[in-house]
Amino acid sequence: MNIILLGPPGAGKGTQARRLVDDRNMVQLSTGDMLRAAQSSGTEMGKRVADVMARGELVTDEIVIGLIEEQIETVDAAGFIFDGFPRTLAQADALGELLEKEGETLDAVIEMKVDDEALVARVTGRSTCANCGEVYHDETKPQPADGTCAKCGASEFKRRPDDNEDSFRTRLLAYYRDTSPLIGYYYAKGQHVAVDGMADIEAVSAEIKEVLDRA
Ligand code: AP5
Repeated sequence: MNIILLGPPGAGKGTQARRLVDDRNMVQLSTGDMLRAAQSSGTEMGKRVADVMARGELVTDEIVIGLIEEQIETVDAAGFIFDGFPRTLAQADALGELLEKEGETLDAVIEMKVDDEALVARVTGRSTCANCGEVYHDETKPQPADGTCAKCGASEFKRRPDDNEDSFRTRLLAYYRDTSPLIGYYYAKGQHVAVDGMADIEAVSAEIKEVLDRA
């Protein structure tokens, strides 16, 4: 089973993708994580995209499609969770072609609907475990009081350079300009399902589970 988690910055895509990896043995393909990994390892591509990402703008289609193509062709998985990809109509068309080439289907496109006013607080309050990537939030999911990650026990946490209000506004604009047309695109293909991303994390997981059980 292959699915897309679609939604604005801070909608909870990464949080839910990680839960699906644990529960269903699926593989999370986050283009944001891949691009941040390229930056950390100092590759030429990583250096090229660093400023673009920090500003909250989109990286070129060519780069992200290349990253996804490599994963689809080389990783053997029970299913992929596309998290933050596709983000443009060109990326959506490319994904359709890549899956078809591999004899795979796209089983659901899950739009996580969250009120715009809630998003900025989610993004500016976010931190992640530097070791395993577990996602925390200063108010709704605080780091454990003993200073260690609840999932892996590591004690280092980090915040993203684009998780500030200015970059967030640019990311939100990019979402409405370039990514939100995908809602209609996948609706017309009969693959779109919306879930209430304003519910708490457990309730969102339960709704996604129902969608996947029906797919
Ligand atoms: P990316 O890393 O994909 O960032 P994003 O789409 O902006 O999404 P986020 O990671 O910010 O949010 P999320 O929905 O995963 O939320 P999370 O679960 O963490 O992309 C970063 C950049 O890379 C882009 O701006 C672009 O430059 C580039 N890029 C990436 N992919 C690209 C592509 N395909 N094309 C071109 N450029 C690309 O949750 C957020 C917070 O909310 C957390 O603190 C969490 O604890 C909390 N939370 C989660 N769920 C709930 C809930 N239900 N209730 C309350 N709090 C919650």
